[in-house]
Amino acid sequence: MTPTSAQAEGGRAGIVRGAVLESVGSPAVIVELRLAAPGPGEVRVRMLASGVCHSDLHVRDGEWDRPTPIVMGHEGAGIVDAVGPGVGSPRVGQLVALSWLVPCGVCRACRRGQVWACPDSPSFRHRMLDGRTVFSRGAGGAGRGGSAGRLAANQILSYCAIATMAGASVVPAAAAIPIPDGTDPAAAALIGCCVTTGVGAVLKTAQVPAGSSVSVIGLGGVGLSCVMGAVIAGASRIVAVDRVPAKLAVAREVGATDTIEAGDDPARTAEALRDLTDGGPDFVFEAIGRTDTVELAIAALPLGGTAVLVGMTPLGQRSAFEVYPLVDGSRRILGSNYGFAEPAIDFPRYAAWTLDGRLPVDRLIDRRIGLDDLEDAFAAMRRGEYTRQVIDFDHG
Ligand SMILES: NC(=O)c1ccc[n+]([C@@H]2O[C@H](COP(=O)([O-])OP(=O)(O)OC[C@H]3O[C@@H](n4cnc5c(N)ncnc54)[C@H](O)[C@@H]3O)[C@@H](O)[C@H]2O)c1
Ligand SMILES: [Zn+2]
Ligand SMILES: [Zn+2]
Repeated sequence: MTPTSAQAEGGRAGIVRGAVLESVGSPAVIVELRLAAPGPGEVRVRMLASGVCHSDLHVRDGEWDRPTPIVMGHEGAGIVDAVGPGVGSPRVGQLVALSWLVPCGVCRACRRGQVWACPDSPSFRHRMLDGRTVFSRGAGGAGRGGSAGRLAANQILSYCAIATMAGASVVPAAAAIPIPDGTDPAAAALIGCCVTTGVGAVLKTAQVPAGSSVSVIGLGGVGLSCVMGAVIAGASRIVAVDRVPAKLAVAREVGATDTIEAGDDPARTAEALRDLTDGGPDFVFEAIGRTDTVELAIAALPLGGTAVLVGMTPLGQRSAFEVYPLVDGSRRILGSNYGFAEPAIDFPRYAAWTLDGRLPVDRLIDRRIGLDDLEDAFAAMRRGEYTRQVIDFDHG
């Protein structure tokens, strides 16, 4: 099918392989799925790459409550191969990175322009904007299914409305952000989550001034992106902390000036941090999502220092801090969702920095896998192995 005819017809329904979570806490299964044609305001993306983010593991392990069955994945990129009625952008043939948050446009956060904080994003209903689903299986046809409420037996949700762990996905056009030609699709996928989250936490949430001292605790895709962001911000000292020595080496490759191998005692890590940074780093980024390292990030702050919480814990967990020194020392704690992303502005910008070498995203990718290796990738991530594993979709 030529791009022109696809554009005119809006594409056809098809069969794709995808990673489905039948219920949170159970293994992902790779199955054949029917994918509906894109409806009004939607596009079909032939997936080229999907990163495996720790947020996928939180969902897989039942640490976050999510509706099921659901096609997994939220860090992806691919080529638009069909568009639904009324779609002006993106166009058929364009490389796009997918945003896991399409703002509702009307809530309090959206009205203030803080779209990254939108709590009412239709993406979090894991359906298309009109409330319907696009994936189904078994009997019942390949049409679009489900009203906004009940899910029929053969219908499957799409994680954050983008479901990147499938050979193709139908997504809201607003979630598919064109990326400059020549960008490696795997890097484009990472721009969809970890790069935008980490770089944005430094440049947009914290607005780290040049010359600051920075520490990053936890060096997966998110933490290493914080390190890369700190380099761009012109930080004078970047202290990278992880319990896995191999991660420290990658952190140095992407710009960390110092590293600390964390042991079991956070107090010792805090002490080492203070020693390296004249009493504590101006900014500490927590990029793991553990209550004890959140407490460490706050405890390590000097007067006027800022802890930026990027990692996400299992739901319901709490951290504690001593109130008097936080107030008395004018210290700050910031939460940072999606690196304060405005995807249509930030994705192309981060892609341009990837192309000109300022963001060495390729250094983060140390394992390319097939969709069938997903459970193995999750097991490796639990052990702290690999910085970023990326699913390559074989369309041969
Ligand atoms: N705020 C957001 O919008 C946002 C977006 C994406 C991901 N996240 C969250 O960010 C966190 C990190 O994601 P990721 O994909 O980079 O994870 P990851 O598993 O790839 O990396 C975590 C790193 O932390 C290290 N680590 C674990 N326990 C440690 C400890 N006690 N001390 C020191 N290091 C330790 C691991 O060795 C690993 O290198 C997750 O909680 C994820 O859900 C948040
Ligand atoms: Zn993610
Ligand atoms: Zn909103």
